[in-house]
Amino acid sequence: MTPDHYTFPLFSCKINGFNNKKMLLNLFAILALIFTFILVLSACVCLFYRVPYVPTKKRLIETLLKTAKPHKGQTIYDLGCGDGRLLFAAEKKYHTKCIGYELSPIAYFLAMIKKIIQRSKSKIYLKNFFKAKISDAEIIFLYLTPAILKKLVKKVKKECHKGTIIVSHTFHIEGLKPLKIIKRDKKNKIPIIYIYKI
Ligand SMILES: C[S@@+](CC[C@H](N)C(=O)[O-])C[C@H]1O[C@@H](n2cnc3c(N)ncnc32)[C@H](O)[C@@H]1O
Repeated sequence: MTPDHYTFPLFSCKINGFNNKKMLLNLFAILALIFTFILVLSACVCLFYRVPYVPTKKRLIETLLKTAKPHKGQTIYDLGCGDGRLLFAAEKKYHTKCIGYELSPIAYFLAMIKKIIQRSKSKIYLKNFFKAKISDAEIIFLYLTPAILKKLVKKVKKECHKGTIIVSHTFHIEGLKPLKIIKRDKKNKIPIIYIYKI
């Protein structure tokens, strides 16, 4: 191989020669492979954990944040944070310390891109939140299925300190008594919101 040759995993081509087109094609092929891999992995996670990645609409995020009324510097969690939209919005508007856990690689990948673009200080982990420490949470946002919520309630009761606020939209958390329920607003497409205090 001459010095002006560059070897890609799929093919080999000249860098300074006439083969820039081939090199670009190789790059696209590699990117497409990575993207397909992330997609397949995300689909597997979704099937295995039975919680699809369904992002919360922007308008609802504003309502959720207004409902929780976070103070500057408070620590908020979004367990199953998707692309981190709620955390980024909270950080921007309320100057909170934001932490999120997400299992889906595609959602995590999107969150990382947004984090860079928005120069966010939010911490987002590609990790199962059942294996995470949540004891410093002051407010927890949840958009999960009733089955997962039922399992999560044990962890919340065990780890969270008294006074932690939990906001779950669409689904009630079995085993916790709501402090407040905000009724569904069909006209504005706002689902039912449950607020709990540990
Ligand atoms: C309905 S989506 C909500 C996304 C985000 N919270 C929002 O409101 O836009 C639920 C997310 O939880 C994630 N998830 C489910 N179980 C999880 C677990 N054990 N650990 C981390 N993430 C989980 C799923 O991958 C999915 O992206």
